[in-house]
Amino acid sequence: MTFEIQHLTAADVVPAMDALEQAFGGVAHPADTDVEASVVDPTRFYAARDGERIVGTAGSFAFSMTVPGGPVPVAGVTWVGVLPTHRRQGVLGSLMSRQLVDLHEEGSAVAALWASEAAIYGRYGYGTAAWLLSLALPRGAAFRTPVPTGRLSLEEPGAQVRETYARVAARTAGWTHRDDAWWGFRLHDPEHRRDGASLLQCVVTDGGYALYATTVRWVDGVPSGEVGVREVVAETTAARARLWRYLLDLDLMGTVRVAVATDDPLLTDLLAEPRVARASLRDCLHVRLVDVSAALVLRRYAADIDVVLAVTDRHCPWNEGSWRLEGGRGGATCTRTEQTPDLELDVADLGAAYLGGTPLRSRPVHERASGALGRASTAFGALEGAPWHPQVW
Ligand SMILES: CC(C)(COP(=O)(O)OP(=O)(O)OC[C@H]1O[C@@H](n2cnc3c(N)ncnc32)[C@H](O)[C@@H]1OP(=O)(O)O)[C@@H](O)C(=O)NCCC(=O)NCCS
Repeated sequence: MTFEIQHLTAADVVPAMDALEQAFGGVAHPADTDVEASVVDPTRFYAARDGERIVGTAGSFAFSMTVPGGPVPVAGVTWVGVLPTHRRQGVLGSLMSRQLVDLHEEGSAVAALWASEAAIYGRYGYGTAAWLLSLALPRGAAFRTPVPTGRLSLEEPGAQVRETYARVAARTAGWTHRDDAWWGFRLHDPEHRRDGASLLQCVVTDGGYALYATTVRWVDGVPSGEVGVREVVAETTAARARLWRYLLDLDLMGTVRVAVATDDPLLTDLLAEPRVARASLRDCLHVRLVDVSAALVLRRYAADIDVVLAVTDRHCPWNEGSWRLEGGRGGATCTRTEQTPDLELDVADLGAAYLGGTPLRSRPVHERASGALGRASTAFGALEGAPWHPQVW
């Protein structure tokens, strides 16, 4: 099979969406076309073609994502799919290589993605950088302390919701900025995706909001509905407590399902007995340093660091070699060096550690200078809480 990788044109967007849906084993739905197309800049997207037919797709969104230290430009990789007829013949590999070269040429330092299967992207230099907990909570789960009273109202998500999100996103590692198109994407709620659930609801309180839907279910006459929480965003402890109490106390529900950060205060502060939250851990963001030196100076470090890193990178030769990273909470420099390395590692190890959610010492890093791995691991740690993201893009 021969195939060619080309940029999408505007006219290719819908056929490429169809191919992507087919790759994911589904069918593109007309109700999704406009909202999905609204966030796509075709010049950042690719089609692999076999003759006229699109057999594979990949692309990226130009995001602003928060890393330790603040928001920075990040390429949000997406739309990765290859038709079943053309799998295991190198289409994905070609798409990934082309995208990395182009991202480097346009000056992108960091790429991030959600993986359909965690095992796919390590070979392209991505490391698992953020994790989340998928929780199933019983209705009525008790809190340690009483909840401060305050207003709660069901509203259309408006300016207060967007501003709250923007402020929380700007200080939470892994979160991306949302413009109008991305708010449209987040609030998109077509019937074919509801699976029997209610319309998306937005409950607002002073200092926060939650997006959720309910599914009514009765088992042997017992109300056993489910609350599916899309996101809880709170700027204060009181707002968080009020929103969670509301979600956990909705009548006729039996279970509340939500994904949260691994250090979410719901578990560490609010619940009297956190064990009632049945939790499963899963990978969330996978990060790739497209340009090692540029990426390493974009973030801040949790402790002072002065380390020489010998980096291997099968796909991006410009990253290979030794780099001296000096930095701390105020910023960092990263320069090529001939000095003896303290640590030998793959670019995927740096991607994994980049957001502060995966300790460098938990990766297969070779320590050449005694103590260097522990010090670097501390410096690469989180500045303000565990990174994660509430939304698959
Ligand atoms: C995942 C997918 C894009 C792979 O495409 P492909 O063209 O078959 O991949 P390639 O032939 O280029 O294979 C590249 C490598 O990835 C490996 N690989 C492919 N799919 C994999 C998977 N699901 N899990 C683990 N490894 C995988 C291949 O074995 C190959 O390994 P190698 O480099 O060691 O030889 C394709 O199977 C697909 O579209 N799956 C359904 C949609 C999906 O999951 N997309 C990813 C969204 S994040």
